[in-house]
Amino acid sequence: MITKNDIKPLITSDEIQQKILELSTRLNDVYKNEELYLICVLKGSVMFMTDLAKHLTMPVKMEFIRLSSYGSGTASSGKVNAVDIQLPDLNGKNVLIIEDIIDTGHTAKFLLDFLYHNFVFKDLKFCSLLDKKCKRQVDINADYYCFDVDDKFLVGYGLDLDGKYRNLPFIGYIEL
Ligand code: IMP
Ligand code: MG
Repeated sequence: MITKNDIKPLITSDEIQQKILELSTRLNDVYKNEELYLICVLKGSVMFMTDLAKHLTMPVKMEFIRLSSYGSGTASSGKVNAVDIQLPDLNGKNVLIIEDIIDTGHTAKFLLDFLYHNFVFKDLKFCSLLDKKCKRQVDINADYYCFDVDDKFLVGYGLDLDGKYRNLPFIGYIEL
């Protein structure tokens, strides 16, 4: 059985916060005083979104949707499940999707297809805390991301193993 002792530290809390600060400076410069909708992809992105949002200076609105792809395993199923994808009218809006990680890219593609099918945006961008490029199956890239990560199973700072470890302030990996 896997316990907390099996989690090897990878990215410290300080490193995460430093990158978020740098990202927020960039975003504040890009959007200036324009209204921005953040779409938080629950559950994994909750820590990233709330920490990032605290540093943003434009008028921000927050939306939350829930998608799932991993189930309780540790390999992406490739099938994305829209648990809750209710959104307000986003036509003509600046929208920034906030994800915890892009792995195969299926979740990102599903969400972008859904959004482009339903709205005509002023601007739509994709922001992910982590980018696991080596696992990509779909040709999709983040407009903004904080860390490149290798093919390891990660937990902490929103990322879970079977629902656990999301509350860790750092990101670690588990050798499975
Ligand atoms: P994708 O559809 O394969 O890109 O997977 C995206 C989703 O899978 C992410 O939003 C995460 O919720 C989950 N995921 C991907 N890699 C990891 C990991 O290393 N640990 C925990 N969850 C992960
Ligand atoms: Mg996620």
